[in-house]
Amino acid sequence: MSGPGGAESAPGATATAAGTATPPAVVGTAPRLEIRDVRKTFEGKRPVEALGGVSMALAANEFVSLVGTSGCGKSTLLSIVAGLIDPTSGDVLVDGVSIDGPGRDRGVVFQTYTLFPWLTARENVAFALRGEKMSARARGQVADEHLSLVGLEGFADARPRQLSGGMKQRVAIARALSYKPSILLMDEPFGALDAQTRLLMQELLTRVWESHRLTVLFVTHDVEEAVYLSDRVFVMTNRPGRLKDEVVIDLPRPRTIELQETPEFLELRRRILASIREESLRVEPGLEDELRA
Ligand SMILES: Nc1ncnc2c1ncn2[C@@H]1O[C@H](COP(=O)(O)OP(=O)(O)O)[C@@H](O)[C@H]1O
Ligand SMILES: [Mg+2]
Repeated sequence: MSGPGGAESAPGATATAAGTATPPAVVGTAPRLEIRDVRKTFEGKRPVEALGGVSMALAANEFVSLVGTSGCGKSTLLSIVAGLIDPTSGDVLVDGVSIDGPGRDRGVVFQTYTLFPWLTARENVAFALRGEKMSARARGQVADEHLSLVGLEGFADARPRQLSGGMKQRVAIARALSYKPSILLMDEPFGALDAQTRLLMQELLTRVWESHRLTVLFVTHDVEEAVYLSDRVFVMTNRPGRLKDEVVIDLPRPRTIELQETPEFLELRRRILASIREESLRVEPGLEDELRA
């Protein structure tokens, strides 16, 4: 058996006594990311049960989205996986090992712009590499490589105020990828962008991910975005959030925007929307009758 990350580091073919090569053993791929019965209650005068027990496993290089009504606990779950908040109970494992706070195995991109306004794009990315054993010059080079990966060559010296919202999020993606995490956690990263920019960012993310695979857990309330980007989509229940449905997105890759017009795409979108709608109606009992009336 090989260790964590087995699929990529599978041992080479071994020769049998007869001298013929046998293919490498099929490695039992341990999940890259495993969430085990994670629950979260925010304590206080009126305790809020945000997560009611969530379990899921993501394989290496899988793209998984989480959708659900507002307030169902998506951001809470992502922050727990990022190690930014502690669960009330349950465990998060990366390559079989429980996490203990944030780590460089997990890159994070949030909806709100989190760049330092006084640093240039290059400096913002390089700042994330400050812990690495490399010269300032090498850090700048790695930053430049990642800025060009997201189409920002030529903007390395710009400061955030000179960049559009989409460009700022591209810098945030470059920064999260710069230290080569095996997992990327994204919480509505395109939520603050206008519809057109959002589409361009979805295309960019798909392209980057299809050429530089890594495991992604992506939170969104945009169902089309989830279907377009993902290998699997989980629908959450209302608060306390639990997983309600799992939808496998078996659409071909590389994915193109035109795919969004196909009957297969529309059917997946319909299924997920229906599942979320059921939850929305549970929050607003009687609404369905009113709508019919
Ligand atoms: N720090 C906190 N303290 C108290 N309640 C919180 C806190 N963070 C989130 N909540 C509550 O937990 C629930 C889930 O929130 P959140 O994870 O942000 O939902 P989502 O991202 O799905 O919209 C909400 O009811 C929210 O008000
Ligand atoms: Mg949220």
